Amino acid sequence: MENDTLISKIADEVKAKLEGEGSGHDWWHVYRVWKMAKHIGEKEDVDLTIVELAALLHDIADWKFHDGDDTVGPRVAGEMLERHGVSKDIIATIGQIIQEGSFKGAGVKTVPSTLEGKVVQDADRLDAIGAIAIARTFAYGGHKNRAMYDPNQKPVLHQTKEEYLKNQSHTINHFYEKLLLLKDLMNTKTAKEIAKERHTFMEQYLDRFYKEWEGQI
Ligand code: NI
Repeated sequence: MENDTLISKIADEVKAKLEGEGSGHDWWHVYRVWKMAKHIGEKEDVDLTIVELAALLHDIADWKFHDGDDTVGPRVAGEMLERHGVSKDIIATIGQIIQEGSFKGAGVKTVPSTLEGKVVQDADRLDAIGAIAIARTFAYGGHKNRAMYDPNQKPVLHQTKEEYLKNQSHTINHFYEKLLLLKDLMNTKTAKEIAKERHTFMEQYLDRFYKEWEGQI
Protein backbone atom coordinates (compact mmCIF):
# COMPACT_ATOMS: atom_id res chain seq x y z
CA MET A 1 0.00 0.00 0.00
CA GLU A 2 1.18 3.54 -0.75
CA ASN A 3 2.36 5.30 2.39
CA ASP A 4 0.04 8.28 1.86
CA THR A 5 -2.95 5.97 1.40
CA LEU A 6 -2.04 4.05 4.54
CA ILE A 7 -1.68 7.30 6.53
CA SER A 8 -5.06 8.63 5.37
CA LYS A 9 -6.77 5.29 6.13
CA ILE A 10 -5.30 5.23 9.65
CA ALA A 11 -6.28 8.90 10.07
CA ASP A 12 -9.89 8.07 9.12
CA GLU A 13 -10.00 5.15 11.54
CA VAL A 14 -8.50 7.12 14.44
CA LYS A 15 -10.88 10.00 13.73
CA ALA A 16 -13.90 7.68 13.84
CA LYS A 17 -12.70 6.19 17.14
CA LEU A 18 -11.81 9.44 18.94
CA GLU A 19 -14.46 11.83 17.62
CA GLY A 20 -16.58 13.27 20.43
CA GLU A 21 -14.11 12.34 23.19
CA GLY A 22 -14.63 15.21 25.68
CA SER A 23 -11.49 15.32 27.83
CA GLY A 24 -9.20 17.20 25.44
CA HIS A 25 -7.63 13.99 24.13
CA ASP A 26 -9.94 14.08 21.15
CA TRP A 27 -9.46 13.73 17.41
CA TRP A 28 -8.51 17.38 16.99
CA HIS A 29 -5.69 17.01 19.51
CA VAL A 30 -4.44 14.05 17.46
CA TYR A 31 -4.88 16.10 14.27
CA ARG A 32 -2.76 18.95 15.69
CA VAL A 33 -0.06 16.56 16.91
CA TRP A 34 -0.03 14.85 13.52
CA LYS A 35 0.40 18.16 11.63
CA MET A 36 3.04 19.45 14.08
CA ALA A 37 4.95 16.14 14.02
CA LYS A 38 5.04 16.37 10.23
CA HIS A 39 6.21 19.99 10.42
CA ILE A 40 9.05 19.12 12.85
CA GLY A 41 9.82 15.84 11.08
CA GLU A 42 10.37 17.58 7.75
CA LYS A 43 13.31 19.40 9.34
CA GLU A 44 14.84 16.25 10.86
CA ASP A 45 16.41 13.14 9.36
CA VAL A 46 13.49 10.82 10.14
CA ASP A 47 11.19 8.28 8.52
CA LEU A 48 8.18 10.56 8.04
CA THR A 49 5.74 7.68 7.58
CA ILE A 50 6.64 6.30 11.00
CA VAL A 51 6.39 9.81 12.50
CA GLU A 52 2.94 10.39 10.98
CA LEU A 53 1.55 6.97 11.93
CA ALA A 54 2.87 7.19 15.49
CA ALA A 55 1.47 10.71 15.87
CA LEU A 56 -1.94 9.53 14.66
CA LEU A 57 -1.94 6.57 17.04
CA HIS A 58 -0.22 8.10 20.08
CA ASP A 59 -3.45 8.58 22.08
CA ILE A 60 -5.49 5.69 20.71
CA ALA A 61 -5.85 4.28 24.23
CA ASP A 62 -4.28 6.86 26.53
CA TRP A 63 -2.65 5.18 29.55
CA LYS A 64 -4.10 7.78 31.95
CA PHE A 65 -7.56 6.35 31.24
CA HIS A 66 -6.49 2.72 31.78
CA ASP A 67 -5.32 2.83 35.42
CA GLY A 68 -1.74 3.57 34.40
CA ASP A 69 -1.40 0.59 32.04
CA ASP A 70 0.85 1.94 29.26
CA THR A 71 0.72 -1.27 27.19
CA VAL A 72 -2.89 -0.69 26.06
CA GLY A 73 -2.00 2.04 23.52
CA PRO A 74 0.72 0.07 21.71
CA ARG A 75 -1.53 -3.02 21.63
CA VAL A 76 -4.56 -1.24 20.16
CA ALA A 77 -2.33 0.62 17.66
CA GLY A 78 -0.60 -2.63 16.69
CA GLU A 79 -3.90 -4.38 16.01
CA MET A 80 -5.04 -1.54 13.77
CA LEU A 81 -1.75 -1.41 11.82
CA GLU A 82 -1.75 -5.18 11.40
CA ARG A 83 -5.19 -5.05 9.80
CA HIS A 84 -3.70 -2.64 7.25
CA GLY A 85 -0.84 -4.99 6.45
CA VAL A 86 1.94 -3.01 8.19
CA SER A 87 5.10 -5.06 8.92
CA LYS A 88 5.93 -6.37 12.41
CA ASP A 89 9.11 -4.24 12.57
CA ILE A 90 7.25 -1.00 11.91
CA ILE A 91 4.50 -1.98 14.35
CA ALA A 92 7.13 -2.58 17.05
CA THR A 93 8.81 0.79 16.38
CA ILE A 94 5.49 2.64 16.55
CA GLY A 95 4.46 0.77 19.71
CA GLN A 96 7.70 1.83 21.37
CA ILE A 97 7.16 5.47 20.36
CA ILE A 98 3.66 5.43 21.88
CA GLN A 99 4.84 3.82 25.12
CA GLU A 100 7.85 6.10 25.56
CA GLY A 101 6.10 9.31 24.59
CA SER A 102 3.68 10.16 27.36
CA PHE A 103 4.26 12.51 30.31
CA LYS A 104 4.28 10.67 33.66
CA GLY A 105 5.04 13.46 36.18
CA ALA A 106 7.61 16.20 36.68
CA GLY A 107 10.29 13.93 38.17
CA VAL A 108 9.82 11.01 35.76
CA LYS A 109 12.28 11.05 32.86
CA THR A 110 10.86 9.88 29.54
CA VAL A 111 13.27 10.46 26.64
CA PRO A 112 12.33 8.39 23.57
CA SER A 113 15.05 6.13 22.16
CA THR A 114 14.46 7.03 18.49
CA LEU A 115 14.50 10.39 16.69
CA GLU A 116 11.02 9.59 15.31
CA GLY A 117 9.84 9.16 18.93
CA LYS A 118 11.43 12.46 19.94
CA VAL A 119 9.64 14.28 17.12
CA VAL A 120 6.24 12.81 18.10
CA GLN A 121 6.84 13.55 21.79
CA ASP A 122 7.76 17.15 20.94
CA ALA A 123 4.61 17.57 18.86
CA ASP A 124 2.44 16.09 21.63
CA ARG A 125 4.08 18.29 24.27
CA LEU A 126 3.74 21.40 22.12
CA ASP A 127 -0.03 20.84 22.14
CA ALA A 128 0.21 21.13 25.93
CA ILE A 129 1.72 24.64 25.68
CA GLY A 130 0.04 27.81 24.42
CA ALA A 131 -3.46 29.09 23.72
CA ILE A 132 -5.04 25.75 22.81
CA ALA A 133 -3.27 24.12 25.75
CA ILE A 134 -4.90 26.54 28.17
CA ALA A 135 -8.33 25.59 26.79
CA ARG A 136 -7.46 21.87 26.91
CA THR A 137 -6.22 22.10 30.49
CA PHE A 138 -9.46 23.63 31.73
CA ALA A 139 -11.49 21.12 29.69
CA TYR A 140 -9.53 18.24 31.24
CA GLY A 141 -9.90 19.73 34.75
CA GLY A 142 -13.65 19.93 34.22
CA HIS A 143 -13.72 16.32 33.04
CA LYS A 144 -11.98 15.39 36.31
CA ASN A 145 -14.30 17.64 38.39
CA ARG A 146 -11.38 19.78 39.51
CA ALA A 147 -11.72 23.34 40.77
CA MET A 148 -10.42 25.99 38.38
CA TYR A 149 -8.29 27.66 41.05
CA ASP A 150 -7.80 27.87 44.83
CA PRO A 151 -5.11 30.32 46.02
CA ASN A 152 -4.56 28.23 49.18
CA GLN A 153 -3.61 25.07 47.32
CA LYS A 154 -0.01 25.22 46.10
CA PRO A 155 1.45 23.13 43.25
CA VAL A 156 3.39 19.89 43.90
CA LEU A 157 6.13 18.54 41.60
CA HIS A 158 5.33 14.83 41.40
CA GLN A 159 8.30 12.49 41.59
CA THR A 160 6.55 9.31 40.50
CA LYS A 161 3.96 8.27 37.93
CA GLU A 162 1.66 7.10 40.78
CA GLU A 163 1.74 10.45 42.58
CA TYR A 164 1.04 12.26 39.31
CA LEU A 165 -2.00 10.04 38.61
CA LYS A 166 -3.44 10.48 42.13
CA ASN A 167 -3.17 14.26 41.90
CA GLN A 168 -6.51 16.00 42.58
CA SER A 169 -5.56 19.68 42.85
CA HIS A 170 -7.02 22.59 40.90
CA THR A 171 -6.35 23.30 37.25
CA ILE A 172 -4.06 26.33 37.70
CA ASN A 173 -1.65 24.07 39.62
CA HIS A 174 -1.45 21.86 36.56
CA PHE A 175 0.30 24.72 34.76
CA TYR A 176 3.17 24.47 37.29
CA GLU A 177 3.10 20.69 37.55
CA LYS A 178 3.24 20.11 33.81
CA LEU A 179 2.66 22.86 31.25
CA LEU A 180 5.38 25.30 32.32
CA LEU A 181 7.93 22.48 32.59
CA LEU A 182 7.55 21.37 29.02
CA LYS A 183 9.60 24.02 27.22
CA ASP A 184 12.80 22.65 28.79
CA LEU A 185 11.92 19.09 27.82
CA MET A 186 11.77 19.56 24.06
CA ASN A 187 14.07 17.31 22.05
CA THR A 188 14.40 19.12 18.71
CA LYS A 189 15.53 22.63 17.82
CA THR A 190 12.31 23.41 15.92
CA ALA A 191 10.16 22.43 18.91
CA LYS A 192 12.35 24.41 21.32
CA GLU A 193 11.76 27.60 19.33
CA ILE A 194 7.99 27.12 19.13
CA ALA A 195 7.84 26.16 22.82
CA LYS A 196 9.63 29.33 23.91
CA GLU A 197 7.05 31.59 22.31
CA ARG A 198 4.07 29.59 23.59
CA HIS A 199 5.59 29.48 27.09
CA THR A 200 5.81 33.27 27.24
CA PHE A 201 2.17 33.49 26.20
CA MET A 202 1.14 31.18 29.09
CA GLU A 203 3.10 33.24 31.60
CA GLN A 204 1.29 36.35 30.41
CA TYR A 205 -2.02 34.49 30.68
CA LEU A 206 -1.33 33.44 34.30
CA ASP A 207 -0.27 36.94 35.18
CA ARG A 208 -3.62 38.30 33.96
CA PHE A 209 -5.52 35.45 35.63
CA TYR A 210 -4.13 36.35 39.11
CA LYS A 211 -4.70 40.05 38.58
CA GLU A 212 -8.31 39.48 37.55
CA TRP A 213 -8.77 37.10 40.51
CA GLU A 214 -7.82 39.87 42.90
CA GLY A 215 -9.78 42.53 41.03
CA GLN A 216 -6.65 44.35 39.97
CA ILE A 217 -7.44 44.70 36.25
NI1 NI B 1 -1.50 13.34 23.13
